[in-house]
Amino acid sequence: MRLSGQCFWGVSPRNTRGSRPILCQIKACPYVGAVYSGFDARHNAAMLAPPVPEIRIPLSSLRRQAARVDGPLVDQLGRPLRDLRISVTDRCNFRCTYCMPKDKFGREHAFLSRDRLLSFEDIRRLARVFHGLGVRKIRLTGGEPLLRRDLDRLVAMLAEIPALELTLTTNGALLARYAAALKAAGLHRVTVSLDALDDARFRRMNDVDFPVADVLAGIEAAERAGFTSIKVNMVVKRGFNEADILPMARHFRGTAHVLRFIEYMDVGCSNGWRMDEVLTAREVLARIGSEFPLQPIDRDYPSEVAERWRYADGGGEIGVIASVTQAFCHDCSRLRLSPEGKLYSCLFANVGHDLGGMLRTGADDAHLADWVSGVWRDRADRYSELRGSAQLGQQKVEMSYIGG
Ligand code: GTP
Ligand code: 5AD
Ligand code: SF4
Ligand code: SF4
Repeated sequence: MRLSGQCFWGVSPRNTRGSRPILCQIKACPYVGAVYSGFDARHNAAMLAPPVPEIRIPLSSLRRQAARVDGPLVDQLGRPLRDLRISVTDRCNFRCTYCMPKDKFGREHAFLSRDRLLSFEDIRRLARVFHGLGVRKIRLTGGEPLLRRDLDRLVAMLAEIPALELTLTTNGALLARYAAALKAAGLHRVTVSLDALDDARFRRMNDVDFPVADVLAGIEAAERAGFTSIKVNMVVKRGFNEADILPMARHFRGTAHVLRFIEYMDVGCSNGWRMDEVLTAREVLARIGSEFPLQPIDRDYPSEVAERWRYADGGGEIGVIASVTQAFCHDCSRLRLSPEGKLYSCLFANVGHDLGGMLRTGADDAHLADWVSGVWRDRADRYSELRGSAQLGQQKVEMSYIGG
């Protein structure tokens, strides 16, 4: 029998928030044979000097507790787990100034060495475990995921999992080369990041002098390969690429692609974020609406981050992602897995739970599932809703490492 919650020692076997969960198995409980996994320092202390239990918990109440644990997997705010983002590399061939500024991600930056990355076999195994817990969409991300060698092989391995939507976020630089192989491997959708249509501005944004024409060619190649409803993500930074809002809208209007404007976020610790550089989703809508009347449409699914709008004349659909001015934490169903297997329950978290470490110490699938369930059940993250609060940690994870 497996059980989470309070054990008869009177302490919780789960980690307290913020402390690093440790894989352990307490020897089977003498009363019910329960095996506890993941415990904190208080529990450790209890283990060293276990009190003599005076009260035997009736089996019926333990069964009730087990039923609660086996019930729908929801976090502390009642949110289900649906979506996993897997970052396959922390490297990128761009140096977007809002994400990997060159002065912070130069030659001296310590990227993860290849031998620390989760293998494709590990990723597939974890994906199956997550799928068993309710995950129905996996997004491969990075850094730039197409820098990971043979990514199409990973796609093919994950595509074998039934009832799972498989998506990829890329900067598009290598998309023309790999689109057909990714499609053939079973990838369902692609999302391309593109911050400007003006070539000079795009080169300045990516800061590696990469031409916009090559990203547009990547999008066309993806279309030719058979990808439909390609999403194009544009991070808007006031004073940098706001002049591209309307040209981007005009360019993608009338196509099947869905252009989405993202508010520039205070993610990570490297980009020197300032609120006055956030151009809000409302402003974006006002600018586009002044040229092309817009009508709101319902979200596609409850935890969708984008607010959807359509052109009143039938010219297609756009979206705005207002993560700064209209936080969407209340429906957040996302977990994130780093390239070496750290599990993050929020894009703005400062600690990851070491799932890769558990794999390496030989945990079986049931144990991994138990442990991930515990992380999800303990989760109460809502950073974007609390933004600005003094209690929030300062050491946030970088987006180039954990993914968009
Ligand atoms: P689909 O709806 O499946 O197409 O994907 P998505 O919109 O959920 O994923 P995508 O990675 O394209 O998200 C777009 C952008 O929204 C990201 O690059 C982030 O800037 C932002 N975003 C996505 N998820 C979160 C989140 O959990 N928290 C916050 N604050 N921002 C997020
Ligand atoms: N704010 C908003 N989105 C960001 N991304 C990276 N950094 C930021 C940021 N500071 C997102 C972009 C990009 C994806 C890879 O990550 O959407 O397309
Ligand atoms: Fe730009 Fe994406 Fe690379 Fe960050 S990970 S530098 S946003 S292309
Ligand atoms: Fe989810 Fe954290 Fe983003 Fe809120 S800030 S939507 S909790 S990832």
